[in-house]
Amino acid sequence: MLAEFGPRWPALCEALLLPRRHAVRPNPRLHATLAPALAQLPPVVGIADARLCDDPISGLSPDEAYFLDPASLRVAALLDVQPGDAVLDLCAAPGGKALCIADALVDDDGGLDGHLHLNELSDARRFRLLSTLRGWLPAPAASAILLTGHDGSRFGLHRPDAFDRVLLDAPCSSERHVLLDAAALQAWTPSRPRQLAQRQFALLCAAIDACRPGGRVVYATCALLEAENDAVVARALTRRSGRVHKVALPASDLRLSGSEPTAHGWRWLPDTSGEGPMYAALLEIEADAEVQSADDGSAGAPWQRPRRGGAG
Ligand SMILES: C[S@@+](CC[C@H](N)C(=O)[O-])C[C@H]1O[C@@H](n2cnc3c(N)ncnc32)[C@H](O)[C@@H]1O
Repeated sequence: MLAEFGPRWPALCEALLLPRRHAVRPNPRLHATLAPALAQLPPVVGIADARLCDDPISGLSPDEAYFLDPASLRVAALLDVQPGDAVLDLCAAPGGKALCIADALVDDDGGLDGHLHLNELSDARRFRLLSTLRGWLPAPAASAILLTGHDGSRFGLHRPDAFDRVLLDAPCSSERHVLLDAAALQAWTPSRPRQLAQRQFALLCAAIDACRPGGRVVYATCALLEAENDAVVARALTRRSGRVHKVALPASDLRLSGSEPTAHGWRWLPDTSGEGPMYAALLEIEADAEVQSADDGSAGAPWQRPRRGGAG
């Protein structure tokens, strides 16, 4: 960390050991009821309806309000999901960002305007995600979501060019957790970030391949090290050269509030922003990218609404 952050590390380390700052995001269907109770809290700049709070507020159920790091909301906002979009969240549990995506697709009748495919490898985490979705969303929307448990790195093969938006919130070192957990610190080895970077690269290539020409991919981690952030993006940009480019955003974009620009994206660190750690990069598939062929023969087929298996 000293090699990577130099003289900044002591202050950053101290900030990482402090209690995490939360954002509270009210369920949009209960906004009118909850707004007065949250009105006194400071807003999360650039994120509609979310408020900052030091601790989860007692008296609010998980179906009424979701508590998460403010930078997580920024990652979901960067995906910029619009009604009608086909969206893939490749590593979706526990689901804070998935709920933001789903809410952007819920229509006036409580159904889903678009397609949402949530994927999560861990059975236990996927079952908890299912219960979160059912508690948060109107029943028609929850049952329209496709929830699967595949290895995310296979999606490029099985669902090429299928989605308008793909979120890869990748498994990562999560150093803040390592610093706060003696057993995790004991188990940490220098090879861990290298192994994770390899997995992240495979997942990011799959995310890029699953996204249609003109669509966008957000790559995010809560890792501190460049090896799991910019370096993974740099490798994918090289490996998928001609298919994908990175998207620059103006510093005035309020979704980026509190961030520092990096070579390929942005990062939020708690010593300066009170948010994070979080890293995000925004990538766009070339509009004229060649449509890929799938091993299941589905290449080029129009996106089809899934017929079964939703969260309902
Ligand atoms: C950083 S968490 C995702 C957090 C989630 N996006 C949210 O906002 O709540 C990464 C998740 O990826 C899952 N995961 C790990 N390897 C995976 C793989 N190969 N394919 C799909 N999911 C994977 C982990 O079980 C973990 O739940």
